[in-house]
Amino acid sequence: MIKKGIILSGGMGTRMSPLTKAVNKQLLPIYDKPLIFYPLSILMLSNIKDILIIVNKGQLNQYRKILPNGKNLGIKINYIEQPYPKGLPDAFILGEKFIGRQNVSLILGDNFFYGQYLSQKLLSCTKLKSGAKVLLHKVSKPELYGVAKVNKRNKITKISEKPKKYISDLAITGLYYFDNNVVKYAKELRPSKRGELEITDLLNKYKIKNKLYADYIGRGGAWLDTGSIEDFYKTSSFVSAIENRQGFKIACLEEIAYFKNWIGKKQIKNQIKFYGKCEYSKYLDKIINK
Ligand code: DAU
Repeated sequence: MIKKGIILSGGMGTRMSPLTKAVNKQLLPIYDKPLIFYPLSILMLSNIKDILIIVNKGQLNQYRKILPNGKNLGIKINYIEQPYPKGLPDAFILGEKFIGRQNVSLILGDNFFYGQYLSQKLLSCTKLKSGAKVLLHKVSKPELYGVAKVNKRNKITKISEKPKKYISDLAITGLYYFDNNVVKYAKELRPSKRGELEITDLLNKYKIKNKLYADYIGRGGAWLDTGSIEDFYKTSSFVSAIENRQGFKIACLEEIAYFKNWIGKKQIKNQIKFYGKCEYSKYLDKIINK
């Protein structure tokens, strides 16, 4: 079982400037909560309770205000600053001590997942013992993402970062599972032409050894990446439509922790005090008074 998870939540945020000049992108709202709640909820739904959040320099205090050490959610949150955005595999170099001898999951701080049976899928992915696993999703603009070509036997035959020429419409989402070799492999990487360590180069190391596996977010599931301001609005509308229709919240961290018995009523009450009078608190109150 993978018990450790990293959220890569740094980056320059230049694409969303001036919004991100003073505030980190992952602390900006997706409808009624900060973006970071969504990837964190995915790790929690995966029963991953030992979490490292990598943030960019100077942002630690902002994060700690909203997500302190995790005790309030029955989990453990550690932080590390990334001096500059060197590329996604840097997560495993910076996180070497945190990872220790274990396997690890990585989720990008700006990725959003939603869908029926998602929790089941997440739990099955954490069973990975050796190799690496990626979650693929069909998209209409594959050239914007890392892309995987898969053969009839569900084997990944090619992966490429933002390919200009069409190879497949299966995007590699920002949720990955790795065995412990990932630290060693990440250290062997050299920056690409664009000057970054590339996640696709890291995945290729597993592919060469026949150790790269694929799973899917089917067409009933949603995967959105919130790279631009437009994406923020689209994802916010999606969350608002579902939450207002059903009366359930997506990525309510306390609700997940409470139903997993990681926290009790007392902690929920503390959270209500912490958030103050707001819709989110009202929702928490309903959960413990059902
Ligand atoms: O969203 C999925 C895609 O994410 C994958 O399909 C691609 O293969 C993968 O390279 C990545 O592409 P992006 O163009 O979305 O990566 P971006 O540079 O925008 O970084 C994703 C998030 O990670 C973003 O929130 C910032 C953060 N980040 C990025 C880098 C390079 C860091 O915290 N540190 C970094 O060094």
